[in-house]
Amino acid sequence: MAQYDVIIIGGGPGGYNAAIRAGQLGLRVACVDKGVDGGATLGGTCLNVGCMPSKALLHASEMYDAAANHFAELGIEVSPKLNLTQMMAQKAASVGQLTKGIEFLFKKNKVDWLRGAGRIAGPGKVEVTGDDGKVTAHEAKNIVIATGSLPSSLPGVEVDGNRIVDSTGALSLAEAPKSLLVIGAGIIGLELGSVWRRLGAQVTVVEFLDRITPGMDAEMAKTFQRSLTKQGMVFKLGAKVTGAKASKTGVAVTVEPVAGGAAETLAADYVLLCIGRRPYTDGLGLDTVGITQDRRGFIETDHGRTSAPGVWAIGDVTVGPMLAHKAEDEAVACIETIAGKAGHVNYGLIPSVVYTSPEVAWVGATEEELKAQGRAYKVGKFPFSANSRAKINHETEGFAKVLADAVTDEILGAHLIGPQVSEMIGEYCVAMEFRAASEDVARTCHPHPTRSEALRQAAMGVEGWTMQA
Ligand code: FAD
Ligand code: NAI
Repeated sequence: MAQYDVIIIGGGPGGYNAAIRAGQLGLRVACVDKGVDGGATLGGTCLNVGCMPSKALLHASEMYDAAANHFAELGIEVSPKLNLTQMMAQKAASVGQLTKGIEFLFKKNKVDWLRGAGRIAGPGKVEVTGDDGKVTAHEAKNIVIATGSLPSSLPGVEVDGNRIVDSTGALSLAEAPKSLLVIGAGIIGLELGSVWRRLGAQVTVVEFLDRITPGMDAEMAKTFQRSLTKQGMVFKLGAKVTGAKASKTGVAVTVEPVAGGAAETLAADYVLLCIGRRPYTDGLGLDTVGITQDRRGFIETDHGRTSAPGVWAIGDVTVGPMLAHKAEDEAVACIETIAGKAGHVNYGLIPSVVYTSPEVAWVGATEEELKAQGRAYKVGKFPFSANSRAKINHETEGFAKVLADAVTDEILGAHLIGPQVSEMIGEYCVAMEFRAASEDVARTCHPHPTRSEALRQAAMGVEGWTMQA
């Protein structure tokens, strides 16, 4: 029987980063992973059916949309033709390279990949059932649960993987739909809705709440919704789907106002169900070590420790934002704590990004949160329409907003909507990690001409000296 310092169950961003860090620190480590949706590759949801394939389609569809609708303005005349088979093939090829990359990193860091389904079989014991049904037993001083999450279901809407799909199905549709009905105006709905809208679909988004993207600063969400509406997305807010009936050619969806009123039936070629994700703990044997889950099924942790000694949990299966970089941060902190170091995650500074066009990115508190805390704050804003680089690139939509403490000037939140802001929010993550004041950013030289100058100008705005607008 193999003896390990750490066995990690799950090979997504939580699990594979934990395994690599453990290997780096000289721990004897194994990672149990069974692949996602019948696949046999490492990388979890993120690499196989999440972050990476969705970004591959977002990038390709944005290029297609630019060629069809924006190149002419730059003096480039083309008539693009969609080759969906090739678009999917390049996505699969990139994903394949990335998942192979994790295998390489495992070898480099002496991580044993135990292929199959892992089950905790009592304190310090893990059983792995391989594809051939053979069960092997392993022992470890520490077990890290990193089993991730699965799409949530909705009664009356059965995902058949054909006409009614979840995010995995929506990443691999065999044709560009003429119409797509999206249930849930969260991140998946708006990202994948954007992909298919750009490729020709009429997209209608039905959302339970009276706003889109809960958790996003309300002013940003309003601006974002306006922008997506201008692009042709239709929003039905304050509405719930009570049923969906698929036929060979499409789906009939029943929608009711949340506040009460008459139901209506909407027809669409395809339906994408994306109303959140649930922790994945099926068959994990949590009862063998006495771990209980919260009401929604999440494993509760304290600095990565579960209620069972020697058992840790990280990533989507635990409470908090379901994001790959949150899983990665928890992985590093958890393994460093196991190794006797001081692991720490700053939950106040986990950035969020929606990779649409425009992109939305933010970190720290929203205005609504600061108001609820009763914290006095100042606001600085700067529009991309006044930023020279955005202007020459014809990407002037959106703005940057910085929130800082009214007394100390410490930056409390940064909210960006505009061109490629995903690549810029890291500047504020670093500044805020060092507890910078808005004046620190305002007085830091930024390269010209770049969109990042808008971030500096917004910081200047906190003290009322924005110079370029
Ligand atoms: P997962 O990535 O879910 O990995 C868990 C792994 O454990 C899987 O391989 C699973 O098969 C395996 N497993 C489960 N149970 C067992 C078992 N008993 N035995 C063996 N193996 C098991 N996040 C971002 O930060 N940025 C994005 O752009 C982004 N885009 C996304 C797009 C989509 C469409 C989706 C669905 C998600 C996206 N996410 C994104 C979220 C991100 O994918 C997750 O937050 C992240 O993958 C969570 O990592 P994890 O390691 O906790 O779990
Ligand atoms: P989400 O939590 O982002 O959004 C779900 C939306 O569905 C919410 O607006 C919610 O109010 C709504 N909703 C819930 N029940 C509903 C109902 N019955 N009818 C209509 N609307 C309903 O969840 P989503 O989009 O499924 O994404 C899951 C997770 O994946 C997110 O937590 C996100 O963190 C992660 N993700 C992250 C990405 C990124 O970082 N760019 C990209 C894609 C996913």
